[in-house]
Amino acid sequence: MDQKQIAGLLNEMTLEEKVAQLLQLTAHLHEGAEDKGQITGPKEEMGVTAEMVNASGSVLGLSGAASIIALQKSYMEKSRLGIPLLFMADVIHGFKTIFPIPLALGCSWDLGVAEKSAEIAAKESAVSGIHVTFAPMVDLVRDPRWGRVMETTGEDPYLNSLFARAFVRGYQGSNLAEDKDRLAACVKHFAAYGAAEGGRDYNTVDMSERQLREYYLPAYKAALEEGCEMVMASFNTVDGIPASGNEKLMRGILRDEWNFDGVLISDWASIREMIAHGAAEDDCEAAYRAIRAGVDIEMMTPCYVRHLPQLIESGRVDEELIDEAVLRVLQLKNKLGLFENPLRGADPNRERELLLCREHRKAAYEAAAKSCVLLKNNGVLPLKPESRVALIGPFADHEDILGWWSCVGEKEDAVKLGPALQERFTGKLSVTAGCGIDSMTAEQLEAATAAAREADVLVLALGEASDMSGEGGSRTDITLPEAQLELVRQLKRLGKPMAAVIFNGRPLDLNGLFDESDAVLEAWFPGTEGGAAVADILTGSVNPSGRLTMSFPQSVGQVPVYYNAFNTGRPMDPSKTGERYVSKYIDSPNEPLLPFGYGLSYTTFDYSGLTVSSDEMSAEQPLTVNVTVTNTGARAGVETVQLYIRDAVGEVVRPLRELKAFERIDLQPGECRTVTFTITEEQLRYHHSDLSFASDPGLFQVFVGPNSRDTLEGAFRLI
Ligand code: BGC
Repeated sequence: MDQKQIAGLLNEMTLEEKVAQLLQLTAHLHEGAEDKGQITGPKEEMGVTAEMVNASGSVLGLSGAASIIALQKSYMEKSRLGIPLLFMADVIHGFKTIFPIPLALGCSWDLGVAEKSAEIAAKESAVSGIHVTFAPMVDLVRDPRWGRVMETTGEDPYLNSLFARAFVRGYQGSNLAEDKDRLAACVKHFAAYGAAEGGRDYNTVDMSERQLREYYLPAYKAALEEGCEMVMASFNTVDGIPASGNEKLMRGILRDEWNFDGVLISDWASIREMIAHGAAEDDCEAAYRAIRAGVDIEMMTPCYVRHLPQLIESGRVDEELIDEAVLRVLQLKNKLGLFENPLRGADPNRERELLLCREHRKAAYEAAAKSCVLLKNNGVLPLKPESRVALIGPFADHEDILGWWSCVGEKEDAVKLGPALQERFTGKLSVTAGCGIDSMTAEQLEAATAAAREADVLVLALGEASDMSGEGGSRTDITLPEAQLELVRQLKRLGKPMAAVIFNGRPLDLNGLFDESDAVLEAWFPGTEGGAAVADILTGSVNPSGRLTMSFPQSVGQVPVYYNAFNTGRPMDPSKTGERYVSKYIDSPNEPLLPFGYGLSYTTFDYSGLTVSSDEMSAEQPLTVNVTVTNTGARAGVETVQLYIRDAVGEVVRPLRELKAFERIDLQPGECRTVTFTITEEQLRYHHSDLSFASDPGLFQVFVGPNSRDTLEGAFRLI
């Protein structure tokens, strides 16, 4: 349809038909649809009638080509104006073939891997009938207590922005109307959901507008610049006003400043939740605030459908606001080609062929292999083929490695570590649980100890159950569960070399494991092919190359701890431990256990010869930074060369380091390469106290190295 036809369609719609387009409900409320959704109460309690359900313009959480085709057909038969349904779902890190969790994908520092994962997820979902994914989630995170850190790529605004773009490209491709194997993407959660106080889910967010713009907003903006079709509002308040009713945020920043004209959807029930926040007295007031703020679709509560008509009749809300919202929904349907082909990509035959196909599994394997981060290694890894190995721990033979938000992925399809290692390891291998995730029996411990006694090397497979992170998965204690720490203590007594592999959805407090182990491999929740990738790393056929994108704290008491922090007026000098009146803890270092950007390899890399092409630069005259990286070990490996900058003096204080560029390079043993980075004035801009975005002349330090801590240093002046 062209724009004129769409406008004509809007003209023909009754007010009731219009508001119905602005309601999204889960599939199981629709008669005859397969029950895939989850809902907190019966329809009557929600205030939703059968008519409202049947008229609503979009569906949440249904998948499966047959079910979607059936529902779309019956809906179209009843639709007076022939307006098709939109099907949306949470396709977060894969659909049926599950990729590593986004935090893990971030640790690959490989944008191609992220894009590919989204492309495959889109293809599998599109043939299963889905049109929109509620991804990417690009919330900047600094608090590993928050369970949803697993859904994002980490603590850095620049890196998160690059990943946001890569995911959008992967999901959407370049032509949504023509390319039926792609989905419309919905970037979330706008805004700053990742800054929930105390890491408690749904909690208050309160920060300066400068902080919001400087750190939290860039990744959403990047997704939109890449053409992301939709935005989801967050649950939290932003400067005292719930995002779903926040006019300044939504109309002001998102619509007017950034010119976003796509669909803005609330989060699940977040319009009605304005009542609990204390920002609206009832559903009607909540609807009023949300429509004025510019939220187009209401997810899972009926404030709009029940109250917008009367708000218009009473003159409190201008019908134009509703027309704008409906127009955006119709335009999205049109962009997806649904008016011409309401079934779009839904195809049961292709669905059978593509879901979990060999090619998709291969891509999931590659992503997992690149996402694991080697955190420590005293030489015990890779395993020597002639050694006797005991694989012990709740994840030794466990399929719960997909992670939260694994869509229609099934644990049974996951490659478990135990069997994968059995297949690959040529030496003697035993596999025992030792304990459960958070329980241990005497028999389990006995069997594990017996197996350990027979072995030369112990490999512990430990971690969190997948429901210990994800939505509603906040923790105050982010150590491994006590039963697993007890297992570590018991096995440690045997005095054998011990490597640990951890499966988890957040940076953990590794007390009780890190010092006790000779090697630690962070596997995250690695997805369907996770066991195969981890086994290949353990046996050495794959050289680990992941780098952390979120700092690992010394303990939870240090949280939030992140690399791009400020210096304070009394920075601590680590060589003077006795000083009292400096910014420090009396019982912990300030530095995290493992910094942003950190990760080891089975080979070693040496950095030398950092040069800055000039002492001075200007807007017209960028400069280059060169550094030579040499593979000093005995095997080929991938190094992620990272460049950070510090603006020495700012109108407002500037972080100690900020990532500005990086490059992944592949080096053969003995090979050296000079990596060149260009620095432009644009990269030196920041938000000033009046919110202007500009650079300041003066001194800048530049750091290049394998992580945000261990760097070579140079300097230049911006004139
Ligand atoms: C989550 C969103 C998700 C939505 C729909 C909410 O609870 O916060 O991220 O997209 O549910 O499932």
